[in-house]
Amino acid sequence: MSDAQHTEAHEGPIKSVKQLVTAVIAAFMLPVIAIILLANYVDFGGRKGAGSDSLSAEQVALRLQPVGNVSFKEAGSGALRTGEQLYTEKCAACHAAGALGAPKFGDAGAWGPRIGKGYDTLLTHAAKGFNAMPAQAAADTQDVELGRAVVYMANKAGGSFAEPKAPEAAASK
Ligand code: HEC
Repeated sequence: MSDAQHTEAHEGPIKSVKQLVTAVIAAFMLPVIAIILLANYVDFGGRKGAGSDSLSAEQVALRLQPVGNVSFKEAGSGALRTGEQLYTEKCAACHAAGALGAPKFGDAGAWGPRIGKGYDTLLTHAAKGFNAMPAQAAADTQDVELGRAVVYMANKAGGSFAEPKAPEAAASK
């Protein structure tokens, strides 16, 4: 009773509780709908520079991929590279011309003191990196291949290291 009197006391567009509820809901919903429509209208999603493929599925996947990736290789002896092959593929970039102060290929003067450290030390340094040389151990490089490359370079510069043997599993195939 007192409710009814109360509502009647103030004249305005809202005359019942039902209208009030509707008005309140509308007051909340309208801005939300407006924002959704605006967001769709602005549409940040498809923006990119003209001629850029930066948003293509491939480019996005490239950016999202975790650091490093694994590639599988058959472990058969045929798949193993020789020291010379690995050298040409991976080491020559620096060692052919002596980039970053790398001992030059075939330079006995530069290699002499290094050869004196022994094969094991040189292999460890090649695998894990040494001063300006980044680590050469990699998912696509087997230890024995790295060893062969070290031996290849060292021996071409006056060393006489024995070539490391291929692991048993690979040799038996
Ligand atoms: C990015 C350039 C770079 C690449 C690629 C590179 N090296 Fe080197 N390497 C160097 C530098 C620079 C040094 C000299 C580091 C020093 O003595 O300070 C070096 C030194 C070495 C040494 C002598 C280490 C010692 O203890 O004196 C060995 C062995 C070697 N590299 C093997 C390799 C092999 C094997 C590869 C290829 C699988 C390779 N390097 C690829 C830059 C490179």
